Amino acid sequence: MQHALCRVVVTRALPDPLPERLRSEGAVWINPDDRTLSRGEILAAIERVGAEVMLVMAMDRIDAALIEALPDTVSIIATLSVGHEHIDLEAARARGIAVVSTPDVLSDAVADMAMLLLLGAARRTHEASQLLYGGLWGGWSPTQLLGKEVSGARIGIFGMGRIGRAIARRAQHGFGMDVHYHNRTRLAPEMEDKAAFHTTLDGLLYVSDFLAVAAPSTPATKGRLNEAAFARLPNGAVVVNVSRGDLVDDMALIAALRSGHVAAAGLDVFNNEPAINPDYLTLPNVFLQPHQGSSTMRTRVRMGELLLDSVHRLRAGGTVSNRLV
Ligand code: DGY
Repeated sequence: MQHALCRVVVTRALPDPLPERLRSEGAVWINPDDRTLSRGEILAAIERVGAEVMLVMAMDRIDAALIEALPDTVSIIATLSVGHEHIDLEAARARGIAVVSTPDVLSDAVADMAMLLLLGAARRTHEASQLLYGGLWGGWSPTQLLGKEVSGARIGIFGMGRIGRAIARRAQHGFGMDVHYHNRTRLAPEMEDKAAFHTTLDGLLYVSDFLAVAAPSTPATKGRLNEAAFARLPNGAVVVNVSRGDLVDDMALIAALRSGHVAAAGLDVFNNEPAINPDYLTLPNVFLQPHQGSSTMRTRVRMGELLLDSVHRLRAGGTVSNRLV
């Protein structure tokens, strides 16, 4: 489809074929260095191109000060993420700037990551790798690295949006797990798919032999997984997080991992990325990934395509379901 040309600033390198599509559809500036830009660098690029669209990442801080400093040319902020806590939506609304994100297209990839973390943590993958790569493996033994069985176990899912539901499908239909969940609102029965609803997070925690964190980062969820929350988990629980690091109090999780009350954790997201709490790196019972949830080629391209299609639709005066403001 032929689109009206559009001036875009992109804050990070994108996978092919997105740069080619962007260049064919407008005057584009793509960050040539694959690193997070400073506020000054973002503004300078926008001025230089006369940008109408900013295509940003979850690591960019699009706060009120930056939004207020944007030139009037900017009418759309498109974020290559489903999370949008890095954008001050009220400030964008006040400036009449539309904000779009990438829901749906990444749910399967992120849910796959949740299962990888669940299995990786439960089956002691980090310790097993160290054994092999450290040249320490003495051969099979009936007592070697006994883990916790995922199949048929009980899982609690905190946050039953699109990603939470994709985790529930995998857990229930792939691994025969007994699925429980807590969400702000209860799902309709056909969406619930026999998962048991808990009206409170505390209620969910008490039954979560495996806990999957998939709720978004909001003022209400930040820090919710604290010392008291971990204490409510059954002894020997496994915790995985594919949402945002700031839902978790790191010190509390690390203490629970050290005591063994939480047997293992699988984490893809952290407070203060990429400078994660170094204690995680010293623990044998963690399985860590560097924020890789949506990082498959197919999903990243679909995320970019969704944003570009949305930008064109908005510029043509249309509506899009992934518009936040
Ligand atoms: C998301 O989509 O929010 C991912 O965490 C990537 O930022």
